Amino acid sequence: MWGPEGLDELEAELLGPPEALKGKDVLEIGAGAAQCARWLAAQGARPVALDISHRQLQHALRIGGAFPLVCADAGALPFADGSFDLACSAYGALPFVAEPVLVLREVRRVLRPGGRFVFSVTHPIRWALPDEPGPEGLTVSSSYFDRTPYVEQDDQGRAVYVEHHRTLGDRVRDVVAAGFKLVDLVEPEWPAWNTSEWGGWSPLRGNLIPGTAIFVCERD
Ligand SMILES: C[S@@+](CC[C@H](N)C(=O)[O-])C[C@H]1O[C@@H](n2cnc3c(N)ncnc32)[C@H](O)[C@@H]1O
Repeated sequence: MWGPEGLDELEAELLGPPEALKGKDVLEIGAGAAQCARWLAAQGARPVALDISHRQLQHALRIGGAFPLVCADAGALPFADGSFDLACSAYGALPFVAEPVLVLREVRRVLRPGGRFVFSVTHPIRWALPDEPGPEGLTVSSSYFDRTPYVEQDDQGRAVYVEHHRTLGDRVRDVVAAGFKLVDLVEPEWPAWNTSEWGGWSPLRGNLIPGTAIFVCERD
């Protein structure tokens, strides 16, 4: 699943036709509980699920799956050049790093020639709107151009959650600067079957503005 709209890789085929995944080495970046890696393994691929959070990988371990889990920073991938045919990330790592181009360069390095990296992030337009599912979530409340990160701190003032904003243009420039070719930018539409409402997600907003941006990148 690429995002809260519910766009499924089986339907989207952004990594290629599901039958072509068989035997492919696929790196999942910011895997969390490794939902994507689990799906990839079920298609016959050979996934590796990577996340910086040991706790997230413990959830992945508990749920299960016959593939490696790697605890590492996406900005310093512990793999040799050209180790993977494909890489993917559903809302993983990229929104949470100050210099996403470093992650993109690392992913390019570990991909084989012709490899594809597909990643989804919150659509940048959402930054300008409050995170509310109702009508109050439809009025611009801050600048789309303000790159000041959103930070939550603990009692000692230490950052415990940081989310960075990149405009759509910033993201395209990052992809190009990392040496990738951008082959598609998918903005999934809210499907009629999805009636869920939570956080900033709802049919009301989903029918009016995009929620997810999916970048399909290729290395030569
Ligand atoms: C919003 S969750 C997405 C998890 C999963 N992809 C999913 O679809 O449910 C973001 C994940 O990125 C991971 N992450 C954040 N910064 C990272 C980094 N620098 N390197 C690797 N993983 C990172 C977090 O630990 C978290 O598991």
